[in-house]
Amino acid sequence: MNCCQCQGIESLFDRQTAAKELKAYRRQGPPKETRILLEALQAAGVEGHSLLDIGGGIGAIQHELAAVAEAITNVDASTAYLNAAREEARQRGYADRASYHHGNFVDLAPNLEPADVVTLDRVVCCYHDAESLVSLSAALAGRLYGLIYPRDTWWMKLFGRVFNAMFRLRRHPFRLFIHPTAAVDTLIRRQGLEPQFYRRSGVWQIAVYQRRPALAA
Ligand SMILES: C[S@@+](CC[C@H](N)C(=O)[O-])C[C@H]1O[C@@H](n2cnc3c(N)ncnc32)[C@H](O)[C@@H]1O
Repeated sequence: MNCCQCQGIESLFDRQTAAKELKAYRRQGPPKETRILLEALQAAGVEGHSLLDIGGGIGAIQHELAAVAEAITNVDASTAYLNAAREEARQRGYADRASYHHGNFVDLAPNLEPADVVTLDRVVCCYHDAESLVSLSAALAGRLYGLIYPRDTWWMKLFGRVFNAMFRLRRHPFRLFIHPTAAVDTLIRRQGLEPQFYRRSGVWQIAVYQRRPALAA
């Protein structure tokens, strides 16, 4: 991967972080906001659906939906996270229904199949080009599109600036991006999706969109 942010991702989300998060997930399950997203997706009905989880980390969404999902695709820019998700899938006995792609989703998107359900849990804030990431991923959502991303409040923007200043000082290439909510929402709607569920939780917002029915000719 040649993008600077992707190098930052590889270095921030390393083996140690992946091992720590997998241990926490095994002990206490998914974080609160991920549980809210999972409940919203399950309420909308995901049985027998294919799942494309972008930036799935250690794979919490994949593991939780494995019992009902028909096929699972995981795309992640972090080698350590991808390996942790695959190893956990193997242990849980569903790795034969899952495929793993390492790299920048924006580069890989043209070669990926659409899926019924597409998820991005805390991914949009890790990537500078929200327009490409959101548009390309929303376009692949056959039925449902679920995402968790930071609220664009003044205090989150301030936090983002402080966070990035600290990383710049450490000469770490990773940066945090608080993309405007209205812009993200517009990009998703432009791909033919409409809001179905929305909730705020602390610094995060959780949203599920569904594909608008095609107009009869
Ligand atoms: C903060 S972590 C969240 C991981 C997991 N979804 C969770 O909520 O625990 C961000 C994830 O997004 C991935 N990511 C960020 N930008 C990406 C991109 N352009 N293509 C693929 N993966 C990306 C990172 O590698 C990482 O796995």
